[in-house]
Amino acid sequence: MEELAPISIVGTGYVGLTTAAVLANAGFKVFTIDIVPEKIETIKKGRAYFYEEALDELISKAIDTGNLVPTLSYEESIPESDIVFSCVGTPDRPDGSHNLDYIYGAAESVARVAKDGLIMVQKSTVPVGTGREVISKMKKANPELQFEYVSNPEFLREGSAVYNTLNMQRVILGSDSTEAMDRIEAVYKKVDELCKKLEGVNFGEYTNLAIGRELKAQTKSFEDRVFKMRLESAELVKVSANAFLALKISFANSIAKLADKTEADINEVMDGVGSDTRIGRAFLYAGLGWGGGCFPKDVSGLIAVADDRGVGMSIMNSAVNVNDSMIDYGVEKLQRHLSDLKDKKIAVLGLAFKPGTSDVRKSQAIKLANKLTELGASVAAYDPKAMEEAKETLASSVVLKESIMDTVSDADAVVLAVDWKDFVIADWEAIKDAMSGDVLFDGRNKLDIHEMSALGFRYEGVGRR
Ligand code: UGA
Repeated sequence: MEELAPISIVGTGYVGLTTAAVLANAGFKVFTIDIVPEKIETIKKGRAYFYEEALDELISKAIDTGNLVPTLSYEESIPESDIVFSCVGTPDRPDGSHNLDYIYGAAESVARVAKDGLIMVQKSTVPVGTGREVISKMKKANPELQFEYVSNPEFLREGSAVYNTLNMQRVILGSDSTEAMDRIEAVYKKVDELCKKLEGVNFGEYTNLAIGRELKAQTKSFEDRVFKMRLESAELVKVSANAFLALKISFANSIAKLADKTEADINEVMDGVGSDTRIGRAFLYAGLGWGGGCFPKDVSGLIAVADDRGVGMSIMNSAVNVNDSMIDYGVEKLQRHLSDLKDKKIAVLGLAFKPGTSDVRKSQAIKLANKLTELGASVAAYDPKAMEEAKETLASSVVLKESIMDTVSDADAVVLAVDWKDFVIADWEAIKDAMSGDVLFDGRNKLDIHEMSALGFRYEGVGRR
């Protein structure tokens, strides 16, 4: 059998653990390293410590074959590895920029125990210029070590992390060393082979993604999906891509506000606009706006780096302002029907930052729920996966419920805050009957306006007619 390079992955978040599980299933021996003992213990039992479709299945298979080795120890894993992927977190600084302490700390720890010939791959999203700093810190930590550094930003989306990792749209590699980039390309080639073997496998109850369908749509060969470039270019690809997507959403929301003042319907408008292949329909869905661990941080990080280099990035400041305004916009929609929200019973469906994940970071749904309680409303909320996670940032006065029906019971208004499929296909007639009022704010524009009106709801969307 072909001998594959042993790999270590530092950091077991969405990116690190998904990459580790996929590479281990592609045949690599993979050490997955974290500093938190509870996380490592859970992975050893064959599952993730967060919810992500199809991930537990891959982890448990890889633990059984022995390809995936969870560990707390750099000494046990790094000296055994030819390639190390850095996937550690970059928490927010108060000014919105990335805190890179974990990135530097992990790189120095790797450098101290690594063997010569190491390829250090950065998968975490970092501001442009970070790679050079990492290289210099690694050299300082171990001046003797021979290594190459590759920036390889990750584009997976939470909720479809496994699917995106297997079914790569693009592989971005940035480095001073062509040979190092070739070796990382060879690693991903194995993932592409695994993906082809999985044709027909359905990934997910909620996202309804099937590998086969996408593979058929995939017109480019694996090689044509690999882009090799300068280190700094690769770093800038990642944040620019996320910033552009955030911009698209804020653009759609701005046009939706205008649509609300006219007889236009935003879905019709964006269907027309997005049919231009130069523009595309994706990420032009108006609603409560963007959240999560990536867009908010990447956008503020980009603004911070640009400020630092004396380059204005007002286009992104505007996108942030539009996004922030969507919470008050949602509140106004409710006030239009309920006037004063004090003591009004409002049911909020969804707390995660988007469907398919238990992640609640910078969730617009939580911001809206908290704002409603601030205004004196009595808020009940439910999410299929993110209840525990939500407790940390959700106002304590928000009452968590166990089901859709419990949440809407006796409510004056219901808000669809996250477009979980369970909510979109729910029995809205029964919901209407269980409520004492009739106001429905569709914060994700996912419900059929005519159907909802026929059920007797006073329907509000974002830019809907
Ligand atoms: C995002 C990018 O889509 C990934 O390509 C990237 O790899 C990832 O960040 C990252 O940097 O790691 P993710 O944060 O998982 O992925 O979430 P998205 O699916 O992009 O959604 C972001 C937010 O935008 C969600 O709150 C979603 O509800 C909102 N959204 C998305 C809209 O309001 N309208 C849209 O049309 C699309």
